[in-house]
Amino acid sequence: MGSPDRPLLVETAAPGADDPVLVLVIEAATSPLFHAAPRRNWLANVDVVSTDPPAPRAEPAASLHMACIMDGNGRWAGRRGLPRTEGHTEGEENLARLVRVAVQRNIGWLTVFGFSTENWQRPRPEVRHILGLHEKLVGRVGELNELNVRVQWIGRPFDSPMARTPRYVQRAIRKAIADTADNTGMVLTIAFDYGGRSELVAAVEAARQTDDGVTVETIGEHLYLPELPPVDVLVRTSGELRVSNFLLWQAAGAAIYFTEAPWPDFDERELDAALALAR
Ligand code: FPP
Repeated sequence: MGSPDRPLLVETAAPGADDPVLVLVIEAATSPLFHAAPRRNWLANVDVVSTDPPAPRAEPAASLHMACIMDGNGRWAGRRGLPRTEGHTEGEENLARLVRVAVQRNIGWLTVFGFSTENWQRPRPEVRHILGLHEKLVGRVGELNELNVRVQWIGRPFDSPMARTPRYVQRAIRKAIADTADNTGMVLTIAFDYGGRSELVAAVEAARQTDDGVTVETIGEHLYLPELPPVDVLVRTSGELRVSNFLLWQAAGAAIYFTEAPWPDFDERELDAALALAR
């Protein structure tokens, strides 16, 4: 959203309305929207995004970065004679369990592939169900705060021409980011409407505009979340041996842990086996 070259959006929502009734654009040379914590102002139901430069964030003390491609929810459900949506529901529950385990294991950064740019092609009821699960996950603010976990999002900027994230999901993500912004422990980054190739195209385009032109550094500085560290271990569940357009730049040097277990069965033991590759 906002960037050194682009305006910040200030969005106001009518009480009870699903969509914003007014979007003001403030010309501000400042940091990305999601790095600034939205805060309530004197107008009821209005989120104001600060135009101040963000305060430097404390890096989590632990530095290990695990990234997960959470595949196999549908097959997990199919084997039990359940609808695919039940597999996604169980996948979300499992993610919530694993966040707790990851914190116990002193993982600094956990990034999960929650919804890809390709996932929009799935049947609408399934897409709606998955979007609801994202709302549920980012609504677990009590648990996340108890665990000192900070939420981030990575994906196509909500104002980019190709972006498709509905407003209610944008709001839920933004709220979770704000409500966990002061946490100093593990950083949970949810990739939503994310595709690695789109991220790289945008980063290279932006890098080209800089004085230094296209270099490893300038590309890195223009990724969706420049502060996301390199991935140490990339997990892919459910027996698929592919990286599926996930964190292509950040995972360039990652160890890869493939497992036959579908995502809902990726448990503490599996997580430890993946960690062993990285440590
Ligand atoms: C793959 O299962 C998983 C996804 C499409 C991503 C959605 C992930 C979840 C709902 C888990 C919870 C996570 C969040 C962030 C809410 P699949 O449908 O491709 O499984 P299949 O390959 O067996 O069909």
